[in-house]
Amino acid sequence: MAAKLAVLGTLVVLALLGPVSSQQAGYGYGGGSPTPTPPPAYPPTTSPSPTPSPPPAYPPTSSTPSPPTYSSPSPAPPPPAAYPPTTSPTPSPPTTYPPPTPASPPPPSPASGPALSVGYYNDKCPGAEALVREAVRAADAGIKAGLVRLFFHDCFVQGCDASVLLKPDNDTNPQPEILGIPNLSLRGLDVIDAAKKALEEKCPGVVSCADIVAFAGRDASFFLSGGAINFTMPAGRYDGKVSNASDTLPNLPPPFADVAQLKAMFAAKGLDTIDMVALSGAHSIGRSHCSSFSRDRLPPSNTSDMNPAFATQLKANCTSPSGADNTVAQDYRTPDQLDNQYYWDVINHKVLFASDAALLKSGDTAALVYAAALFQKEWQDRFGKAMVKMGGVEVKTAANGEIRQMCGYVNKPYSG
Ligand SMILES: *[C@@H]1O[C@H](CO)[C@@H](O)[C@H](O)[C@H]1NC(C)=O
Ligand SMILES: *[C@@H]1O[C@H](CO)[C@@H](O)[C@H](O)[C@H]1NC(C)=O
Ligand SMILES: *[C@@H]1O[C@H](CO)[C@@H](O)[C@H](O)[C@H]1NC(C)=O
Ligand SMILES: *[C@@H]1O[C@H](CO)[C@@H](O)[C@H](O)[C@H]1NC(C)=O
Ligand SMILES: *[C@@H]1O[C@H](CO)[C@@H](O)[C@H](O)[C@H]1NC(C)=O
Ligand SMILES: *[C@@H]1O[C@H](CO)[C@@H](O)[C@H](O)[C@H]1NC(C)=O
Repeated sequence: MAAKLAVLGTLVVLALLGPVSSQQAGYGYGGGSPTPTPPPAYPPTTSPSPTPSPPPAYPPTSSTPSPPTYSSPSPAPPPPAAYPPTTSPTPSPPTTYPPPTPASPPPPSPASGPALSVGYYNDKCPGAEALVREAVRAADAGIKAGLVRLFFHDCFVQGCDASVLLKPDNDTNPQPEILGIPNLSLRGLDVIDAAKKALEEKCPGVVSCADIVAFAGRDASFFLSGGAINFTMPAGRYDGKVSNASDTLPNLPPPFADVAQLKAMFAAKGLDTIDMVALSGAHSIGRSHCSSFSRDRLPPSNTSDMNPAFATQLKANCTSPSGADNTVAQDYRTPDQLDNQYYWDVINHKVLFASDAALLKSGDTAALVYAAALFQKEWQDRFGKAMVKMGGVEVKTAANGEIRQMCGYVNKPYSG
């Protein structure tokens, strides 16, 4: 409730911050600027806020009472952002309260599942988390981005149970999730397998693949954010035994999703609009196949509100003489950094997917986009919280799961 109120306060503040956009043009985003401009005063004291009391602090539970600092680890200062975009109307501030809690379907509460706990392996397999972290550290940036995405794909399909890792098996399961259409370029499976192998040698039959995927997603976020996204990930998940390619399309939000569909698909996993917008920041890393967006977003399609110069660049980068499906960076400015640059890309109409652009098209999501763009630290906190929440989706227990011996295969029944 406190969180809701805080967000409400934030939305109110953002609504009032509308004029800040003109100030913003001065320093743009990109805190990489050698002479950092002081952070915007926050919350504004002149607020003619409709709420009687001053807007609550944001985030409410923050241990640091000081006002949020506006900082960016970005080493490469991007040019000042065009802000607000001139090619489209400024999104209207939210007018309806309370904000983003979706009304339906009733979110399944991740909390109703088995209790996960932080440090679950401290006694059962000391050093397990550190081992995963080192495996992730060694991976390149593209694989790290893949590990964040892998966690998402795992949790959204059959819950966080490593079902995404199961390999096709001619006899028992010829069409697991990995063969589903949205699998394009799933990466990082080797890192998970290698960590699992090492953990099996260390403590056989103890550490689930589902937990390794969750730790790896957390650790990849940590490294790609230069340590700024730093959170604990509860564990104790069991591995699932079901993996079906036909479950992928209905559960994974497609790149052409609009706001209503995005909200509904996240709500179906117990994740609200705040979580959804925070997690969308993962599109500040990784690459996308051009086939995922070219049809509806690039010329000759005229339905997209993409910045025309950006579209021209993408068109060129997607053109391949051999007809190959090229890949392009999700965030062309800081492609290997998990940062809030993504939200500036959204604001500037320089994002790949319709589902990214969609975030500006509804008042509540637009306000959250602006908040994330302006307050990196708060977004980093929200991102971590949303990752933990996502990590609780439809978690398996000993009753309906197992600890796999190999992440690619369900354990063989005992035949002694
Ligand atoms: C699975 O079936 C395909 C075609 O029927 C065959 O080529 C392949 O060797 C089989 N794989 C395994 C592991 O049995
Ligand atoms: C996967 O789902 C489809 C459609 O629900 C179903 O027909 C099929 O039997 C399932 N496959 C497995 C291996 O459970
Ligand atoms: C993704 O699915 C395609 C087609 O079903 C398959 O050929 C490919 O191997 C899958 N990707 C991975 C990483 O398994
Ligand atoms: C991350 O958080 C832990 C405490 O949870 C702390 O010990 C560690 O120093 C932090 N790392 C960074 C890079 O901030
Ligand atoms: C978009 O293209 C279609 C068909 O090519 C055309 O009928 C329509 O008028 C165009 N819309 C705009 C806004 O240019
Ligand atoms: C297009 O490719 C060039 C060269 O790799 C790169 O510098 C640029 O950022 C790319 N642009 C986009 C929009 O992906």
